[in-house]
Amino acid sequence: MTDKVAKLTLGDQSYEFPVMSGSVGPDVIDIRSLYAKTGLFTYDPGFTSTAACDSAITYIDGDKGELLYRGYPIDQLAAESSYIEVCYLLLYGELPTKAQLAEFDTLVTRHTMVHEQMHYFYRGFRRDAHPMAIMTGVVGAMAAFYHDSTDISDPEQREIASIRMIAKMPTIAAMAYKYSVGQPFVYPRNGLDYASNFLHMCFSVPAEEYKINPTIARAMDLIFTLHADHEQNASTSTVRLSGSSDANPFACIAAGVACLWGPAHGGANEAALNMLRQIGSVDRIPEFIARAKDKNDPFRLMGFGHRVYKNYDPRAKVMQQTAKEVLDLLGVENNPTLQVAQELERIALEDPYFVDRKLYPNVDFYSGIILDAIGFPTSMFTVIFAMSRTVGWIAQWKEMIGDPQKKIGRPRQLYNGSPARDYKPITDR
Ligand code: CMC
Repeated sequence: MTDKVAKLTLGDQSYEFPVMSGSVGPDVIDIRSLYAKTGLFTYDPGFTSTAACDSAITYIDGDKGELLYRGYPIDQLAAESSYIEVCYLLLYGELPTKAQLAEFDTLVTRHTMVHEQMHYFYRGFRRDAHPMAIMTGVVGAMAAFYHDSTDISDPEQREIASIRMIAKMPTIAAMAYKYSVGQPFVYPRNGLDYASNFLHMCFSVPAEEYKINPTIARAMDLIFTLHADHEQNASTSTVRLSGSSDANPFACIAAGVACLWGPAHGGANEAALNMLRQIGSVDRIPEFIARAKDKNDPFRLMGFGHRVYKNYDPRAKVMQQTAKEVLDLLGVENNPTLQVAQELERIALEDPYFVDRKLYPNVDFYSGIILDAIGFPTSMFTVIFAMSRTVGWIAQWKEMIGDPQKKIGRPRQLYNGSPARDYKPITDR
């Protein structure tokens, strides 16, 4: 709380509301007593001006293009840390010691297998089902397989559920992929690190040996790290809202997966690569730029713009560099998709439409190029985002459940429908 107060005048009445400060970032006006004092609600569709919770996990300064996990800048974590260390940091608040990291890594590694019966569960899906549809179903179904970690009032069960989800998400995602291509499921290998194990489960087949390239594994780990958390975005808010009713953690994360699927959110990486392919060559870019600017055309440049970043998304910078490294490694010269992406970025960043609206490439603009080069079909892109974000969702869910001020989320509305009226029998309508 600060000494500052916000004054609201309504007619001849004046009301005061306390102003609260966080450690960094804008202050907030505490309007919890607004309805009781004034009989009014606030109106903020899309929550553009509303802080819905306190959080100590992730901080974004959208004007500076800054992203911090527990205070550590994303570019430092991308350069020096690993996804598993970032998971520890997000969950427990501090970087681990060597012993803590080893213990955590072992714990996650020992939970990577899924209940054998889950294999049969997959067979209920059509072969051509989108893997995100499978993820939504299978993650929710975990509550049916792991009953012993659904009591959210027990901190130990909360912890076990968290570890289970971080550990099993890559297995579930790889199984969704294998199912869609008609190949046998591949069991996890405990001797491999998190990213290498995921590549192994996706790309190895019983018929021959699969060698993991360390540069590809590093790029994969980086993609996981860059997507690990992003404060109160749509899917995280969905997880919090679901969890606010005391729903079990698997159901909450399944809700997050479902929300992430939308093309305005995690589905943008798939949409961005499809768009780059649709553009196809550099000479067609002006046509698509014109469409993006045309208000009568619903087309948008996918992978461009962000609700919070009004500057270059710091994750996109790392992704752009990694995309070049991966393509170089794979010997992909003159990749037309990368060329279209780079030229599109250059043109858009000089165009007054994009400059005035502060529309910059976001994390999804380059991630698809990397995932495509590694060999993933576009339908897996959002699945990989969901896997990476699981730790962020869990950290945020645990923070909320542990907060003594937790309340069920229950927004209000501005009602525009009919006032009360009498029911008419069907013969009189
Ligand atoms: N292409 C063309 N115009 C755009 C774009 C775009 N990608 N994004 C925003 N605009 C325009 C929009 O038409 C509006 O113009 P005007 O003021 O003239 O009406 C202005 O910029 C502000 O847009 P908005 O829709 O009010 O902004 P928002 O904060 O509600 O939306 C967004 C943010 C990410 C949904 C939007 O920028 C978008 O649809 N981008 C494309 C999808 C995408 O890349 N999403 C991934 C986001 S990052 C990863 C994640 O969070 O999952």
